[in-house]
Amino acid sequence: MKVAIIGAGHIGTTLAYTLMIKGFVSEIAIVNRTREKAYGEALDMTHALASASHSVKIYSGDYRACEGAEIIVVTAGAATAKGQSRLEIVAANAAIFREMIPEVMKYNSEAVVVLVTNPVDVNTWLTLRYSGLPWQRVIGSGTVLDCQRFQSFLSRHFNVHPGNVQGLIIGEHGESMIPLWSRASICGIPLTEFPGYDREEMEDIFDMTRRGAAMVRVTKDSTEYATAMSVSRTVEAILLDKKEVLTVSTLVSDYYGVGNVCLSMPSIVGKRGIERVLTPQLADDERDKLLRSAAVLKGVLASVTDEPTA
Ligand code: LAC
Repeated sequence: MKVAIIGAGHIGTTLAYTLMIKGFVSEIAIVNRTREKAYGEALDMTHALASASHSVKIYSGDYRACEGAEIIVVTAGAATAKGQSRLEIVAANAAIFREMIPEVMKYNSEAVVVLVTNPVDVNTWLTLRYSGLPWQRVIGSGTVLDCQRFQSFLSRHFNVHPGNVQGLIIGEHGESMIPLWSRASICGIPLTEFPGYDREEMEDIFDMTRRGAAMVRVTKDSTEYATAMSVSRTVEAILLDKKEVLTVSTLVSDYYGVGNVCLSMPSIVGKRGIERVLTPQLADDERDKLLRSAAVLKGVLASVTDEPTA
């Protein structure tokens, strides 16, 4: 099972390393515009293989190395500078994607493409257009990472294992993300019934979740470990056909009147990509926030494409 990773920056390389350690992938190709960087990263990882518990082939290459991959993960592009919002780098990355995606398609149009580059929801929509692939096979890493952060903060507050916390976040992977408080629970027990529940503290926890990446970047250049783990979970769900429900970014066609925009929704992920988008009922305030999140993303899309986005 082969995965190609485009982009040998912090996130691409940490993802490659995570996949290598996890061991469900047999081949990893790292593709980067500066070939030497990808070569060094791949070489360093191959030097770890003697101590790994399974064999993985790891190498670098150009876009041709995407051939034969079941999944192509795109992490390449301009990164946000400290203090910049994810949406501020949209024009630079739209230009990169316009060139990159058709190039990649020359070598592999059978894979599931997983976008990680920010702003991920916009780049997912653009990749759909530039690749011509069916929507099920173009997936944004989305708010899987934000859910992970939310679970982590909530688990610390309630002193339970993060995996026991159900904390869904949908919408934009960015400022307008929406926590579904109406669905938040610990193993099915509503948070409101848990000792320690306090509405204001919950709001603070969501605020920290929303600012999670910025908090990390106060002291280091880029988030990477949590991002790599969240993307590897999506990769694993696809490769192993797990049918896992993940809040990945996907083309939404009609949800509370929202359509023709990519944002995160709980979706069943398996070997064909997105097998089904779930459409939970929202509380009124959650619905209003979803409409706002979609409007923000459409406004940004309109700034980088001539195609109708209404
Ligand atoms: C983050 C970046 C990857 O949230 O958007 O860490």
